[in-house]
Amino acid sequence: MSKRITITAALPYTNGPIHIGHLAGVYVPADIYARYSRLQGNDVAFICGSDEHGVPITIKAKKEGVTPQDVVDKYNAIIKQSFLDFGISFDNYSRTSAKIHHDTASEFFKTLHDKGEFVEEVTEQLYDQDADQFLADRFVVGTCPKCGNEESYGDQCESCGTSHNATDLINPKSAITGATPTLKETKHWFLPLDKHEAFLKEWILKGHKKDWKSNVYGQCKSWIDDGLRPRAVTRDLDWGIPVPVEGGKGKVLYVWFDAPIGYISATKEWAEREGKDWEPYWKNEDTKLLHFIGKDNIVFHCIIFPSMLKAEGSYILPENVPANEFLNLEGSKLSTSKNWAVWLHEFLEEFPEKQDVLRYVLTANAPETKDNDFTWKDFQARNNNELVAIFGNFVNRIAVLTNKYYDGVVPQPNRFKQVDEDVMAALKAYPSVIASSIERYRFREASQEFMNLARLGNKYLADAEPWKVIKADEARVQTVMYVALQIASVLATLSEPLLPFTSNKLKEILKASELEWDWTWDAITEGRELLPSEHKIIEKAPLLFTKIEDKEMQAQLDKLDASKKANESANRALEPQKDTISFEDFAKLDIRVGTIIEAEKMPKAKKLLVLKVDIGIDVRTIVSGIAESFKAEDVIGKRVTVLVNLAPRKLRGVESEGMILMTETPDEQLVFVNPDYNEKITNGLSIS
Ligand code: MF3
Ligand code: ZN
Repeated sequence: MSKRITITAALPYTNGPIHIGHLAGVYVPADIYARYSRLQGNDVAFICGSDEHGVPITIKAKKEGVTPQDVVDKYNAIIKQSFLDFGISFDNYSRTSAKIHHDTASEFFKTLHDKGEFVEEVTEQLYDQDADQFLADRFVVGTCPKCGNEESYGDQCESCGTSHNATDLINPKSAITGATPTLKETKHWFLPLDKHEAFLKEWILKGHKKDWKSNVYGQCKSWIDDGLRPRAVTRDLDWGIPVPVEGGKGKVLYVWFDAPIGYISATKEWAEREGKDWEPYWKNEDTKLLHFIGKDNIVFHCIIFPSMLKAEGSYILPENVPANEFLNLEGSKLSTSKNWAVWLHEFLEEFPEKQDVLRYVLTANAPETKDNDFTWKDFQARNNNELVAIFGNFVNRIAVLTNKYYDGVVPQPNRFKQVDEDVMAALKAYPSVIASSIERYRFREASQEFMNLARLGNKYLADAEPWKVIKADEARVQTVMYVALQIASVLATLSEPLLPFTSNKLKEILKASELEWDWTWDAITEGRELLPSEHKIIEKAPLLFTKIEDKEMQAQLDKLDASKKANESANRALEPQKDTISFEDFAKLDIRVGTIIEAEKMPKAKKLLVLKVDIGIDVRTIVSGIAESFKAEDVIGKRVTVLVNLAPRKLRGVESEGMILMTETPDEQLVFVNPDYNEKITNGLSIS
């Protein structure tokens, strides 16, 4: 029976491109579910968009010297393109800076306001006097009152997931100036979550929510058990949706208040475009509402947004919130700021047309019940050993053999043997096996069931050995090839949600569009013939998948290594300042400009060069530990700054009569403190 299903996927923050963690945690599972639901004939609205408000965007804009609007315009375009490229089949991808969203969110706020659902209160909030601004959300960091993480943000601790008020932080510090904030009075609107506690208990704890994933249910239970408190839903910021009621001047809606309403505005935008009515998708009790999110979003989708919807009064609540855990990359946490990520737009440049490989690997290894690790080794293995060696190999063989034996025409089968009957029976069972996994949000399991089907095909062909049997028993080969072609059609049909590009490619190989019927999951279950005898398939089939070589993986690992090195040097602790010295101390130093006129390597010493330096008053020998950064021949002629009155010292038997002043680049290369900016400076000139 056809059902109306509203599927939302977390609106990504628009302060950077998206990476494999986003895809694995939210968008691939949501897309599999949406594609699957459409194939079952349901009325699906698959909704997403860019989350364009919030402090991280303001911070990014400040850092880059552009406006917040510039930041979101840039990343909205990149993110949207990545979703298209990876086949994420949103019915609408909107943005929260759109007018329809500003209107919808303002309206929503006003409704709650007019119904008396908010508590208005003047409270003391954290304030940065140097920056002359209130510190909300990510503008403030401090110690999480719950888990002790010292880098918790004002609204949420990323370590334990707790959502709190900025004033709850222990030792708060401004993220703008580093100053310790003071307190300043300001008025805000609070959503009294405590008032909704009874409803949440009933709905989540006593209701049917036992079928929610245990990670989701567990987090909700712990929050409710801890006791819920009012949460401010407005902020003293200038980037966001203006507070649309009296006294709201200079204030905006809290980003986590406006963003989930973005699901509603994006549905409206879509319905308007399609000439539909949006309301049933959000208000009819028989609509199934699902939120696909990552685990850091659980409190907002299970506690705060449902309380908002409940307070408004005319909306349905989610039937399920299938949240995933996190994906790591090569053993470390994915991080945008540390560039520890596989960016989708870069992946596509380096592995063109391998979108489905990534979809498959991220699904087969999805962080469904615990955090999981993405490794390039696993990526290569799943590509080479599963997609190429099993699925691709099977399809390639049948395409080649059908052309070789029958000029590409599906043969008439003869009498079925038991193995053929068994395979045909197994095919019928697959749609419901895979469907059951998907409906229980077990996408890893679904991907493995699918691969089992490809395995079955591969094994059937390998056991039947048509390439050998053809000489002795042509009639038998006709049957084998007929059955194998049916398996291929089932693979093409069932792969659609998981591997949409491959599904299309395979349908083209089998020329499915020339048939008078569509390939549906029901047709398979009912045992209807998908590919009839006499139908002609493609003559030269492209390969579904190609092998990935070790060197391609090494290149990816090298790239990550470079990120790691860049981070390490960027984070290298600068030495603290030494004790102050008097001017008299300083005046004792005789520092002059000189020119290196000779240089040679000190035998058997890795680091040392022996230099002759003309310092104007004389020419000196200086032994310098710079051989790892410079070759002798490259420093001849270089002008340098020299401490000339350092007491002479013997190094490896050579007396060194001074010291050349050096400093270091971020990647630990020594460089000269350079007097060369003006050629008129003469040797021997003092530095003061
Ligand atoms: N932008 C948030 C994140 O990336 C998710 C917002 S989901 C919505 O974590 F519900 F607010 F839309
Ligand atoms: Zn914490």
